[in-house]
Amino acid sequence: MDLVYLDNNATTKPAPEVVESMLPYLTELYGNPSSVHRFGQRSRQAIEEARSQVARLIGCSEAEILFTGGGTESVNTAVRGLLAARQPRRNVVTSTVEHSAGRELCAQLEKEGAEVVAVEVDEGGTLDLDQLRDALRGDDVALVSIMWANNETGVLSPVAEVAALCRERRVPFHCDGTQAVGKVPVDVAALGVDAMSFAAHKFHGPKGTAGLFLRRGLRHRPLLIGGPQERGRRGGTENVPGIVGIGKAAELALQSLPQMQRVLQLRDRLESRILETIADTRVNGRTDQRLPNTTNVGFYQLEAEAILLLLSEQGVCASAGAACSSGSLEPSPVLRAMKIDDRYAHGAVRFSLSRYTTPAEIDQALAILPKVVQRLRAVLPVA
Ligand SMILES: Cc1ncc(COP(=O)(O)O)c(C=O)c1O
Repeated sequence: MDLVYLDNNATTKPAPEVVESMLPYLTELYGNPSSVHRFGQRSRQAIEEARSQVARLIGCSEAEILFTGGGTESVNTAVRGLLAARQPRRNVVTSTVEHSAGRELCAQLEKEGAEVVAVEVDEGGTLDLDQLRDALRGDDVALVSIMWANNETGVLSPVAEVAALCRERRVPFHCDGTQAVGKVPVDVAALGVDAMSFAAHKFHGPKGTAGLFLRRGLRHRPLLIGGPQERGRRGGTENVPGIVGIGKAAELALQSLPQMQRVLQLRDRLESRILETIADTRVNGRTDQRLPNTTNVGFYQLEAEAILLLLSEQGVCASAGAACSSGSLEPSPVLRAMKIDDRYAHGAVRFSLSRYTTPAEIDQALAILPKVVQRLRAVLPVA
């Protein structure tokens, strides 16, 4: 059975070039980058080369890049680090559709005494800029942390507008760019953000390696204390193979950006064929401001989990917005925040493509999906 991998927002296949670039640093080039000897300094050079590759991908200088151990760590580093540096201000402004990395962190910060304001989105998933403006009125705002591309729907936030509002109020803006970086052109300077998180495994790099852009001069406190690495911004011996891998992945992502047009066409074909051939389906989230690789389709009155299981039996990998909590399937907080009709939200399936997705995979998914839906609808109780 051929694998049809349409779950690239969860993680992507490591590019063969990435794996190859990492191998020497997992085998013979194992020196510690902090060592003074030449052997260690080869690892140091490899890290600095990776920093340049990543800086080119997002349009900043090398000194503004900090490597972390994953997207979640990057988000924690940014938000906690900015909050600590802006004491006694304790107000954190975020959105209602953040990834759990941001959402659960904010819930924890609230327990620790921060005051969190979550700006709402409309049914299309777009941030309410008027609410954001209101949230920024007080003098107690420590930072704004809002995602760029939503991991479930692919909907893009108006990042440049958010950045402009934050700048007006002199409030630092961290943008969780984990799903956007590597898929859309990024220029942090033009966007005007102060900090941006991204993770290698979302753009064909290794898992557990990520980065954080911190604008030069931004006041920030380190999250991990215990060593001078990363200019004192993250203590601990660096993950050299992972960092080499994120560098190579960044270089390839930049070269491959034009290919996202082909990915978009494949995504659009998948989406439009589903809507045409399967009754009672709809796309969740606006379709004009969206990642080129993502579609979130609601199947009326079905449970996404059941669809995924049957798809998986036939080799098709996709993802659900719903998560099983206390025995009942709850629609995802993202779809709930968008006020998507429950009968569509329960049956929300995310298909996410990559530059490795082939037309044959899309055809296979399109051949299997209608049968899966038919099978499930055949056993639905009559309303
Ligand atoms: C928007 C967003 N932020 C943060 C993360 C967390 O990244 P990681 O799983 O690498 O820690 C993800 C992962 O799915 C994400 O989609």
